This record gives sequence, structure tokens and C-alpha cells, in this order.
Amino acid sequence: QFHREIPEGLRQLPGPSAFPIIGNLIDLGSKPYLSLTEMSKRFGDVFQIQIGMRPVVVLSGYETVKQALTKQGDDFAGRPDLYSFRFINDGKSLAFSTDQAGIWRARRKLAYSALRSFSSLDGKLPEYSCVLEEHICKESEHLIKELQNVMRVEGKFDPFRYIVVSVANVICGMCFGRRYDHHDQELLSLVNLAEDFVQVVGSGNPADFIPAMQYLPNKSMKKFVNLNNRFNNFVQKIVTEHYTTFDKDNIRDITDSLIDHCEDRKLDENSNIQMSDEKIVGIVNDLFGAGFDTISTGLSWAVMYLVSYPEVEERLFQEIKVQIGLDRTPTLADRNNLPLLESFILELFRHSSYLPFTIPHCSTKDTSLNGYFIPKDTCIFINQWQINHDPELWKDPSSFIPDRFVNDDGTEVNKLEGEKVLIFGMGRRRCIGEVIARNEVFLFLAIIIQKLHFYKLPGEPVDMTPEYGLTMKNKRCYLGVSMRQQNQ
Ligand code: HEM
Repeated sequence: QFHREIPEGLRQLPGPSAFPIIGNLIDLGSKPYLSLTEMSKRFGDVFQIQIGMRPVVVLSGYETVKQALTKQGDDFAGRPDLYSFRFINDGKSLAFSTDQAGIWRARRKLAYSALRSFSSLDGKLPEYSCVLEEHICKESEHLIKELQNVMRVEGKFDPFRYIVVSVANVICGMCFGRRYDHHDQELLSLVNLAEDFVQVVGSGNPADFIPAMQYLPNKSMKKFVNLNNRFNNFVQKIVTEHYTTFDKDNIRDITDSLIDHCEDRKLDENSNIQMSDEKIVGIVNDLFGAGFDTISTGLSWAVMYLVSYPEVEERLFQEIKVQIGLDRTPTLADRNNLPLLESFILELFRHSSYLPFTIPHCSTKDTSLNGYFIPKDTCIFINQWQINHDPELWKDPSSFIPDRFVNDDGTEVNKLEGEKVLIFGMGRRRCIGEVIARNEVFLFLAIIIQKLHFYKLPGEPVDMTPEYGLTMKNKRCYLGVSMRQQNQ
């Protein structure tokens, strides 16, 4: 690939010089989003590094990324064949597999419509506008009770430990029509696998790029294979139960709707995309996995920012008190009336950039970007962290300032500023859960900020340094929480 002739009129990609065998692995270090941001200052928005033997093109800069992912979307919509991706969802993942364009597009459409219909469905009770709202409101109630309990017994709590169960229950409700108790050991051990998962699939894992490492005894890869098997078995068990109790006239959840799609397709002689039932029903595996880890990591960071910026927490509480009051629970319809909360969420996404890179992309044909030649099948990293901290786009990018998104009179969010925050990707591969995710983060936060006050505890340090991975987690820590009083 390196020695390909460059077509006339195009330039060769710039980049740092690489060592034999390991390439630029040492330059990458343990925080690739920082080291690659530094390199972009030297080499520009499009440059090439080498990880192991494999060339990787790194894209930075809002306009360049937009050009690649939207204007030249098809050229950059592939996924690379990475070693670790082969173990995810048995190699049949919608998000990580190397499915060819036609199959991927058909599966993505199916996943999108299943998600949309099962989140916007009417709730069981008339007070909720949709099932998503119903699940979130009920889970927040459980969460608040759990936090009160643990504070009474232990006097402290680990935010991720409790939030992750609440968020997993929301997506479990939509995918599988069930919820789990906060102390259910099966669910707890499953959601805890996410930490090891995201570390292995973070962009730049050496095992993905240096073939020799795949044959050496590798503890973290072994763990990875094992955790994917456990995750698949968990989902498979539920899917099998759904097949046994399936009733075409009563589609209960996303799993049922995917099974139903397989049945319909068998009757449709004109169906031209060949896809196994496994590939269809396996979509639920992706939705469940993507649906709990991303949102719970975001909410856990939100709580970390609330305790680190108590004056912001107080202003958020006052906004809710004035706009909604303390007598009724916030709903999704309140989203437009809480500009400070909306800005807090945008700033949380921007400042933490806890998805520092998208899932790696791959060029689907020989192409070019900003005048540089990029051959087919080149692995592409998109540095979202760089865009969210680019001093060309943001004033004082390293400071946490939610007000940067509010208009001067404080009554409205500046939508154009908000759109510059990159955390869901862009273009063809853009996250399909974005609408649900933004609504869910909003409503969980509105409810818990209305009811709870979070604080640091003496002797319990709060460290905001993220742990690198596909999603970056905050370091586990203990915080305090108390109920808000009516007269506050
Ligand atoms: C893909 C972010 C929540 C389902 C992605 C990507 C990002 C992302 C960065 C990769 C884009 C790319 O490769 O260019 C987030 C964030 C979330 C979130 C920050 C929460 C705050 C969700 C939820 C679901 C979901 C709730 C589903 C229930 C997916 C799927 C893909 C994806 C299926 C793969 C799309 C594809 O490869 O075509 N997400 N996501 N995500 N997300 Fe999300």
C-alpha cells in the first residue's frame, strides 16, 4: 500500500517517520487523542501514521471531517478488518463488521426503524408521552430510592455503578421488554464487562495492527473474547425465549419486531438482499450494547461535572425550580424550556469528548482528500476530541463553560454553536441512537437535578482524568448525595 503510485495531481500524505515493525506506536502513547491532536498541529488535517505495519490516516478539523464523512460519504463509510472486531457479536455486528455496503445499509435501516418505533410508541400510562419517557421516569424513581438506600447504609456511592443499571434497564425495556433489579448479579456482571470492552476497541489497540501480537499469549485479548461470548450468550438466551413465545399479533419489543421481519421476508419473493435471520435478529445485540454503555458513561461524567462545579449545579437546580417547579416530574416536553441544562449537556459532550474517536472507518475505494491520495482499504481515525478542543472553533477550549452555548440574554441555546460539538460522528455512519441518547441524557439529568444534590466527600478524591477507550470512563470514585428540600 505504501508503494502505490500517487495519481497525477495528488500529493503523498504527510506524517511522522515510523520505526520498523512497531511504526508510530510509541508516539501514540496511552492517550492517542492528545498525541494525534499534537501531530495535527504539525502535519495538518489529513496525515498518515503507521501502527505496526499498517498505515492509518488520521482526520482532524471540522471542515475536513465534514468533507470526508458527508460530501464524500460513500468513500469513507467502510469499517476496517480489525482483529478485535471479529469477536464482537460473533463477527456479525452492525457497527463493527466489514459488511459490504448493501447489507450494512439494509441492516442499519432496519435497526433505525425498530429503534424509532419502539421509543416513540405510546406509553402504557396516559401521563407519559411515549415508552422512552415512561422507562426513564420509572428508572429515575428506582435510582433515587437506591441512592437514598446506599447513602443510609454506606454514606457514599459510586455514580457509575448505579447509573449503568438504570440506563441498561431503559434499553432492556425497549429491546427485550424487561427490567432488572439494581442488585441482580447477572445484569451487574454483564454491564461491568463494558469497561474491558471499550479499552480493547479504542482506536489504536496494538493487537489490531501488529499480527504477531495475535499469536502471543495476550491476557486482555483473552478477556475480550471471553466477555464477548458472555454478552452474546446473555442476549441469545433472551432471543430464544422470544422465539418460543413469539406471537405475530402481539409484537412486544424490538426483538419481536426483528423476528417478525425475518418471517415477512421469507414470504417476500422480491427481497433481493440476502441476509440470514441471525444477521437480522443479531441487530438487537448492537442496540443493547451501544444503548447502555454510551449513555451511562455520559451521565456518570455529568455527575462528576456537577460535583466539580457546584455553582453550575445550583444554577441548573434554580432553572428547573423556576421553569418546572418542584411539584411535578420533568418530561421530554420541557427540553426547550431548560436552556442552561441543554448547554450543560453540550459542554459536557464537548469538554469530556468521552468518545474521542468515532469507531474506525475505512476507505471503500481509491480516493483523495484535501489534495492527498488515500488508497482503498485504508484505516481512518476521526479525531472528535481535536475538533471539540480546536482553538480555531472554541474560545478557551480547555475550560468547562456551559454558558458558551447560551445566547446573551440566557433564554435560548445557540443551535449553531451546539452543532459544532462532535460526539455522535457525522454522515453515513452517524450514530443511529442520537435522538434517543440526547433525550435520555436530558430527562435523566432534569429529574435527578430536581430531586438530588451531589457533593464531594472529604478524603475521597475526584479525579477527572479519563481512562482511554472507545468510550472514556471517569475513574471510579465515591461521592455523597442528598435529597433536595422543598424550600431550597
Ligand atoms: C455509532 C456515539 C448512543 C447505536 C456511533 C458512533 C458514535 C456514537 C461516535 C460511531 C460513528 C462513526 O463510526 O462514525 C454515541 C453517543 C451516544 C450513543 C455519544 C450517547 C450519548 C447510542 C444509542 C444507540 C446507539 C442509545 C442505540 C440504542 C449506535 C449504532 C452505531 C452507533 C448501532 C453504529 C452505526 C453504524 O456503524 O452504521 N455512536 N452513541 N448509539 N451508535 Fe451510537
